Amino acid sequence: MLNLEPTTPALVIMQELRMNFFNILMLIGLFQISCSTAGLLGNSLIAKVRQRTSSSTEISAETMKVVGNELRTIHLQFDKFAGDFVEFNCDNSAYKMIMFEFPYAALKWRHNGHILSIKPSRMVYNMGLLAIQNLEMMDGGTYTCAVEYAPNKQMPVAVFSLIVGAKTTEIAEGNTLQITCDGDDLLQLFPNSVQIWKLQRKLMSVKSRQSSKRNKQDLFKNVSKKHNGIWFCVIFDNSTKRAWKTARYNITILPPPNAIEKLYAYAVENKIRAGLVIAGVLIFFFVAVQTFISRAEKRDNDMERELEYIKKHFGIQKEVETTPKEEQPMLVMNEN
Ligand SMILES: *[C@@H]1O[C@H](CO)[C@@H](O)[C@H](O)[C@H]1NC(C)=O
Ligand SMILES: *[C@@H]1O[C@H](CO)[C@@H](O)[C@H](O)[C@H]1NC(C)=O
Ligand SMILES: *[C@@H]1O[C@H](CO)[C@@H](O)[C@H](O)[C@H]1NC(C)=O
Repeated sequence: MLNLEPTTPALVIMQELRMNFFNILMLIGLFQISCSTAGLLGNSLIAKVRQRTSSSTEISAETMKVVGNELRTIHLQFDKFAGDFVEFNCDNSAYKMIMFEFPYAALKWRHNGHILSIKPSRMVYNMGLLAIQNLEMMDGGTYTCAVEYAPNKQMPVAVFSLIVGAKTTEIAEGNTLQITCDGDDLLQLFPNSVQIWKLQRKLMSVKSRQSSKRNKQDLFKNVSKKHNGIWFCVIFDNSTKRAWKTARYNITILPPPNAIEKLYAYAVENKIRAGLVIAGVLIFFFVAVQTFISRAEKRDNDMERELEYIKKHFGIQKEVETTPKEEQPMLVMNEN
């Protein structure tokens, strides 16, 4: 029997090593956090007292300055492959400052505009640290970590972009290419940023923050051979000249489909409409055949009626007897 599972000893060992490596990394990470919180704990006690006396739900101007500075200079992007490991560390000065002011604050991770759904088999998060192992293509995009310092009040303190390999797309010439940048959180965070699709050196599209509100997907209509290649989506912050890559696509343009393939593609894409067209054609044929049959029947009826009429008027009731008269002269002729 053929076994496709990775059961060769070397592979198993390698996998285990990778798991252990991951665990060790996590332990080191957690240990570091525990050490730093030991120091923070003392501080947070003071902060608690301070908060109780002020009971403010606003971040102080001093902390806001640190947060603003952090966001203006932070520039973290990761370019990985499927199966790799990545670690996002949100434990920066902005995070520390807010936690100092609001010790009960909680950290919220977002991925491409949604609350990050933690997959416990691959992801670990603790304090300011998020680690993902066994990366998948769908993990790509933008991650933000925000501190929820009061009910429904969040302040982003760090942002990360991640690319995992290249999304492979094959598309026939003349069709519409649909690709997703996954950089919206960066666009929203930085007021002077734009979203750029790049193919090699060429800019394929530039989209401003305002026009990216609604549609998540970008469309490129009527593609041709010149769309073939490796595409990147880049968020470019024009005020600080920082750029984050958020998506990579490997686009292969196939030859244009022939008529039957087009028809088939249309039918698959527009199931309901195609169904209606087919139903319409069937109904047309049904009606056509019905009319043909009833017409033929009518003609038969007309003929019968006419025969009856002839019979009645000319009194033909019996079959006419025919006698073979021409046979004899024929025989005579043959004798000659
Ligand atoms: C699609 O692009 C080709 C050239 O690449 C052009 O000749 C053709 O007219 C375009 N078709 C439509 C429907 O725009
Ligand atoms: C960036 O800003 C400059 C002016 O400061 C402007 O000329 C340029 O077009 C901007 N670039 C983009 C991509 O918006
Ligand atoms: C892109 O995809 C094609 C076919 O799907 C493949 O042959 C090619 O090696 C890929 N290129 C890169 C850079 O991954």
